[in-house]
Amino acid sequence: MGVFTLQHLLSLVDLSREQIEEILEIAVRLKQELKAGQRRPIFQNLVCGLLFEKPSLRTRVSFEALMNQHGGASLYLGADVGWPSREPVCDFIPILTSYLDVLVIRAKDHQSVVEAASFSRCSIINGLTDLSHPCQALADVMTIREHSQGQKDVKVAYVGDANNVAVSLAEACSKLAIEFTIAAPERYQFSENFLASLGLSANSQTSDPFAAVREADFVYTDVWTSMGQEAESERRLQAFANFQVTSALMSAAKPNAKFLHCLPARRGEEVASSVIDGPQSIVIDQAENRLHAQKGLVAWLLKQG
Ligand code: CP
Ligand code: NVA
Repeated sequence: MGVFTLQHLLSLVDLSREQIEEILEIAVRLKQELKAGQRRPIFQNLVCGLLFEKPSLRTRVSFEALMNQHGGASLYLGADVGWPSREPVCDFIPILTSYLDVLVIRAKDHQSVVEAASFSRCSIINGLTDLSHPCQALADVMTIREHSQGQKDVKVAYVGDANNVAVSLAEACSKLAIEFTIAAPERYQFSENFLASLGLSANSQTSDPFAAVREADFVYTDVWTSMGQEAESERRLQAFANFQVTSALMSAAKPNAKFLHCLPARRGEEVASSVIDGPQSIVIDQAENRLHAQKGLVAWLLKQG
C-alpha cells in the first residue's frame, strides 16, 4: 500500500532464477525459525486477502496460518463478495486491494488473475488457475532440495496430465536447472511451444511412463481431472488408465526415489495406495512446505523478514 514496491507473482516465468533462490532462502530460514519456536512479527499490521473461486485446503489454510503466525491478518473472501459478477472488475479490484497488502487469488480463468493484477493496488499472488500453480511449485522445489541433500543432477519425472501443476513444476525445474520429464497420453501433453519456451527438447516428453521415470529421483503426479474439468472425467479415466503411479512404476525409477503429489489425491486413479501411503511418499512434508515456501514468497514480495 504505497510504501512497498508493487510486485506480483502470477507465473514463475516472471521470476529470475536469482529471485526464486531469494524466496527459497527466506523460506528455509523462516522454517528453521518456526521449528525452533521463533515467530517474529514480520507481517505485523499487514493484511492478506484470499479471493477464491474454487475450493482449497492447503493454499487457503497455509496462507491464513502464515499471516497469523507472524502478526498479520488474513481474510477469506468466497463467493459472497461478488467476484467476478456483482460489479465490474475495474471497481471491485482497486477497492478490494486498497484495503489489503497482498491478495491471493484462486481463479477458474487465468486471465482473471492477470486482469486483477492490472487494476490492483497491492501485490497479487496466483493461488491456482486453470493454467498454473506457482505457489505449489515453490513448495515442490523446496521439498525436492530438502530430500536431495545437495545432490547434483536431480531428475523429476511427472506422470499424468500436463495441467496447471505440471506447468509450474516444469517452469520451476527449468529455472533451477533440475532435469524434468513428463509422461502423458498424447492428447494431454504439453505443446511443443511450451516445451521450447523452457528450453526443453521433445525428448523431455513421452507417452511411456516407464521411460519417463527411468533414473528419476522424484516421481510426481496429480489428478487426471482437475477442478472445472468434471464433465471430462470419464474420458480422462480411460485416457490415463495406463498412467497410474504404481509400485511397479516406482521400481523403474532410482531405488530410493521419492513420490510427490500436490494433493488432493485420488487413490486408485493417478496413484496406487501402496505408493502414496508407502515409504517412498513424502507428500505430507511437501504439503507442509506450502506454508514455508509461501511465507518466503510473501516476505519477499512485501520486503519483510
Ligand atoms: N495443492 C493445493 O493447492 O491444495 P488445495 O487445493 O487444497 O489448496
Ligand atoms: N490440478 C489440480 C490441482 C489441485 C491443487 C486442480 O486444478 O484441480
